[in-house]
Amino acid sequence: MNLRLKGKVALVTGAASGIGEETVRLFAEHGALVVAADVQDELGRQVAASIASNTVTYHHCDVRDEKQVEETVNYTVQKYGTLDILFSNAGILGPLSGILDLDMKGLDDIMAINVRGAAATIKHAARTMVERKIRGSIICTTSVSAGVAGCGPHAYTVSKHALLGLVRSACWELGGHGIRVNCVSPFGVATPLACSPFNLEPEQVEEATSSQAVLKGVVLKASHIAEAALFLASDDSVYVNGHNLVVDGGFSVVKDTFPTPDQ
Ligand SMILES: NC(=O)c1ccc[n+]([C@@H]2O[C@H](COP(=O)([O-])OP(=O)(O)OC[C@H]3O[C@@H](n4cnc5c(N)ncnc54)[C@H](O)[C@@H]3O)[C@@H](O)[C@H]2O)c1
Repeated sequence: MNLRLKGKVALVTGAASGIGEETVRLFAEHGALVVAADVQDELGRQVAASIASNTVTYHHCDVRDEKQVEETVNYTVQKYGTLDILFSNAGILGPLSGILDLDMKGLDDIMAINVRGAAATIKHAARTMVERKIRGSIICTTSVSAGVAGCGPHAYTVSKHALLGLVRSACWELGGHGIRVNCVSPFGVATPLACSPFNLEPEQVEEATSSQAVLKGVVLKASHIAEAALFLASDDSVYVNGHNLVVDGGFSVVKDTFPTPDQ
């Protein structure tokens, strides 16, 4: 097997579940040493224990708290000696309310995690990379909701548009230090984030997503997003910077108004 992250050290937030968990597994499979950070401690420890204790370590980190973020970055460097990759992935769906009833506290809460939390992780990971002259790779999990409206609740769409702006802005400054900043934008994946708020089973979310999909014959899984993150983390994407890698099977570039030529 071609180990695409051999000798690299990665920090993954939102690592206890869904896309983060799959990415921790894939990064470790490709030779990386990984700190898996989350607020769900029991689940996070289970994920780390189910891989290999010498390659993946769980560490508590609430990305809303900058001190915890800074401490987690320091922990990663102390534990594994460096930090080459940040996968800033922690996120929530936030309030489902309509714009006329917008839950303002819910809006603050989602911004605190999806945007401010990501900004804190980029800030502290990048400081370490700059100080140590590491040509690192930073990846954020945005969403199709970073580019189009109508795919998620208002507050979520706002937060992911802002996060895409953060990625683009950070890539501008950090590019000068040889650090790449990109993001991966998934379409619907049947993780707890997409299932729990609607009381849906994973199969129901997959069915709903597949029915809206442009690309037929493939059901989008967290592992597909992990593969995209692996590409952006590895030297395979060595000149890719400020890129939004949309993993949506073409959904966000097609408006399904006219029949296709074969119809
Ligand atoms: N599932 C989808 O359809 C979908 C689509 C597009 C983008 N995304 C994005 O993917 C990312 C991962 O979500 P997922 O779908 O794997 O959902 P998930 O709920 O399975 O995972 C999210 C993880 O983030 C953690 N988290 C939440 N708040 C945190 C905090 N304050 N500090 C640290 N960790 C925290 C949770 O504990 C959880 O383990 C999110 O940023 C989400 O917005 C998901």
